[in-house]
Amino acid sequence: MSPILEGQDLALRFGAVRALDDVSLSLWPGEVVAIVGESGSGKSTLLRVLAGLMEPQAGRVLYHDAEGAAQDVHALREAERRTLMRRDWGFVHQNARDGLRMGVSAGGNIGERLMAAGGRHYGNIRAAAAEWMSRVEMDPARMDEAPRNFSGGMQQRLQIARCLVTRPRLVFMDEPTGGLDVSVQARLLDLIRSLVAELGLAVLFVTHDIAAARLLAHRIVVMRHGRIVEEGLADRVLDDPRHPYTQLLVASVLAA
Ligand SMILES: Nc1ncnc2c1ncn2[C@@H]1O[C@H](COP(=O)(O)OP(=O)(O)O)[C@@H](O)[C@H]1O
Ligand SMILES: [Mg+2]
Repeated sequence: MSPILEGQDLALRFGAVRALDDVSLSLWPGEVVAIVGESGSGKSTLLRVLAGLMEPQAGRVLYHDAEGAAQDVHALREAERRTLMRRDWGFVHQNARDGLRMGVSAGGNIGERLMAAGGRHYGNIRAAAAEWMSRVEMDPARMDEAPRNFSGGMQQRLQIARCLVTRPRLVFMDEPTGGLDVSVQARLLDLIRSLVAELGLAVLFVTHDIAAARLLAHRIVVMRHGRIVEEGLADRVLDDPRHPYTQLLVASVLAA
């Protein structure tokens, strides 16, 4: 078995800031990996570079597709990259507004992504949108309402439905529960956990929430100042952190 995604020796600076400093990271099929670290440690930059949304200054990212062929994510032509994003990958933004089309109905947000992936039959698309609203515990009777009519937590559920309806193999999430009320976060994390397990997704997600990492991740990668300072199985990293920075993080001293 080969990894589904491999970042090799990635580097990216913003002026004097080393947002990524020689970072290598592999994700295996069906694996859920959390990238943790305090604010500014380079988590989002790493996620965006791995997802092909931002170009690294050094290193490369390889995606191993369902046929086993390796593709250099940053060497793809724009059309190929877009196809990958539509067919194989999903990206869940921290702010649902960045992942939804606010001028399109809730059901339309889900249906649109199915159509982009080749769905044609209107009735089937509408039925799939309703089904996915139910799966993320939204009321399908409200599918014709605009996203702005829904709460922040519901908008995040909608973004997740839009992302998963095409059954991606690989999903990136940047602080998927950030900015929500704590009680809403807990329910959303439970939902994400059950969908990820049910669909067997490979997930790379960024969080500064150690509890979220413990709940969702098989493996944890700890970043500080653009470098990975520790990585390992989630229980090992959280119960027996070796790097002093991870020890502080786990003790929540650095909670962002
Ligand atoms: N587009 C950008 N322009 C300039 N600096 C940036 C940009 N994006 C991120 N940075 C800087 O890179 C570092 C890492 O940022 P980021 O990846 O967003 O961290 P995190 O997600 O862990 O909070 C920070 O110092 C941040 O200020
Ligand atoms: Mg971030």
